[in-house]
Amino acid sequence: MTAEFYDLLHLDGYREWARTWLATSARRARLGVLEVGSGTGAMTWVLAEESEVPVHAVEPSRAMRAVLMGRLATASDRVRSRVRVHPHPLGAAGLAGVADLAVCVNLAAGLPPAEREDALWPAVARALVPGGLLVVDSPRRGSPAAEEWPLPSTRLGPDVYTGTVRCAPGDRAGPDRWTFRYQVLGERGTLREETETFPTWPLDPEVLDQELRVAGFLPAGTAGGWDPEVPAMTSEVDAASAWRPELWRRR
Ligand SMILES: C[S@@+](CC[C@H](N)C(=O)[O-])C[C@H]1O[C@@H](n2cnc3c(N)ncnc32)[C@H](O)[C@@H]1O
Repeated sequence: MTAEFYDLLHLDGYREWARTWLATSARRARLGVLEVGSGTGAMTWVLAEESEVPVHAVEPSRAMRAVLMGRLATASDRVRSRVRVHPHPLGAAGLAGVADLAVCVNLAAGLPPAEREDALWPAVARALVPGGLLVVDSPRRGSPAAEEWPLPSTRLGPDVYTGTVRCAPGDRAGPDRWTFRYQVLGERGTLREETETFPTWPLDPEVLDQELRVAGFLPAGTAGGWDPEVPAMTSEVDAASAWRPELWRRR
């Protein structure tokens, strides 16, 4: 469901975010770039445009991958010659020592803690060479209040594509549940409405810190001292303006 609406609602904002926060690190990569959870490829495109090395795009969802493949099919030769798509969860992709930059954005809180600890972070560490950099988006503290935010809104032909997102906090042991409601609005009202709910496991900064240290990473601050302004994502949910990456270095 989400794959169908993802680019219409998020591509511009996410691409801009990637240009702001990932381009410098991508330009510095000398061995390879690993992108964990490429989704529809909004950020893959920036990583491949900016870097000079192979890009490993790992995406297990067929629906998201279909959009990614469509994007790559129309990409420049420069991009097409370097992106390799891995249609598995990272833990099953068998990547070892292939990258000196790993990007894991918009993903970690979507996996249960045990899966992050036992599969995700060890596989990222395996794929990176010692000294390699991991860029991961900074975690939100706790669960948000149960409220609803508007999604971006965009026009396609005479129709407006938009929606809302709502988070229902989980109980102590259970995940939060994020419900995305997509709406297609015509001149005379709603033409279509679809919803999809995803679990997320609140990832406090201290928890991420602990998980990454155990997996063999050390905090690296902001790479090379670059510290751009918070990017403007005017059409994203309020929280997006505080959405920024952390850098970790593999020991
Ligand atoms: C919310 S999307 C974000 C996509 C992209 N990073 C972006 O910001 O547009 C998260 C993606 O991670 C993928 N994913 C989930 N578990 C994964 C895993 N273990 N390894 C690699 N990708 C995974 C999902 O299929 C999904 O497409």
